[in-house]
Amino acid sequence: MRPINPGKRLSEPDTLDGVEDQAVDGRPPNGPLPVPGPKTPIGYRGTPVRRFCVRILNYVTNYIVARLPSFTLRHLWYRRVLGIGLDRNAGVYMGAYVWFFGPGQIRRDGVWIGRNTRINRNCTLDVRSGLTIGDNVSISPEVMILAGSHNVNDNRFVQVPGPIAIEDHVWIGARATILPGVTLGRGSVIAAASVVTRDVPPLTVVAGVPARPVGTRDPGATEYTLDEPLPLFE
Ligand SMILES: CC(C)(COP(=O)(O)OP(=O)(O)OC[C@H]1O[C@@H](n2cnc3c(N)ncnc32)[C@H](O)[C@@H]1OP(=O)(O)O)[C@@H](O)C(=O)NCCC(=O)NCCS
Repeated sequence: MRPINPGKRLSEPDTLDGVEDQAVDGRPPNGPLPVPGPKTPIGYRGTPVRRFCVRILNYVTNYIVARLPSFTLRHLWYRRVLGIGLDRNAGVYMGAYVWFFGPGQIRRDGVWIGRNTRINRNCTLDVRSGLTIGDNVSISPEVMILAGSHNVNDNRFVQVPGPIAIEDHVWIGARATILPGVTLGRGSVIAAASVVTRDVPPLTVVAGVPARPVGTRDPGATEYTLDEPLPLFE
């Protein structure tokens, strides 16, 4: 699988050396950017039987698998059944809600979660139009990442795509919301409970609703790796 990076990068991906080798694991190649997700309205496709199957898959993924107290089992499901590109050192904690239109849609639009990235408990990962999360990203509990919206002036209320890119070493505080189409630049920080409506430049701290810059981060402050062992029963 070769997932697509759905968003533009605000900074050069300086930790993507040798990515062609790692592409076998699903890591996005360091190729030309951006490669956008779908341009047309998004939504469920196919026959009623197929839709029913997707609803069953949704139930099993989000209400059964997400509650299994084992990173190994959950990750296996996310990779093999849903087709999410999940680095082997990444961790998706219990209670994640993965919002999708089917495994085919996920594979088409591309979803990648990078090395040492931690997605804490009870986060919503909307992958309805593509999502790329880099390395050593820390996503705090109950964060909501939304990659789809509605055209409020369309008389069919169509759903529109808004793929999201989160670059390396971003920290998203608890209960923040990231709105469709946003790119969070390398090393940026999103304060707790903020609502991010626009791209955030690298190393910028933003806060509030809507999120506005309130500070900057030292470039040297992003040299850590989040490689501690994944905790039991989380
Ligand atoms: C983003 C954060 C790290 C900023 O901390 P900081 O660098 O010490 O910044 P300050 O506290 O000096 O705040 C700077 C400004 O932003 C404002 N601000 C900070 N956090 C805010 C928030 N969540 N919402 C709105 N405004 C916020 C402050 O009021 C301050 O504004 P002022 O200058 O007008 O007084 C911190 O506020 C935060 O949100 N941490 C996340 C905690 C969390 O989610 N923990 C769970 C995972 S461990």
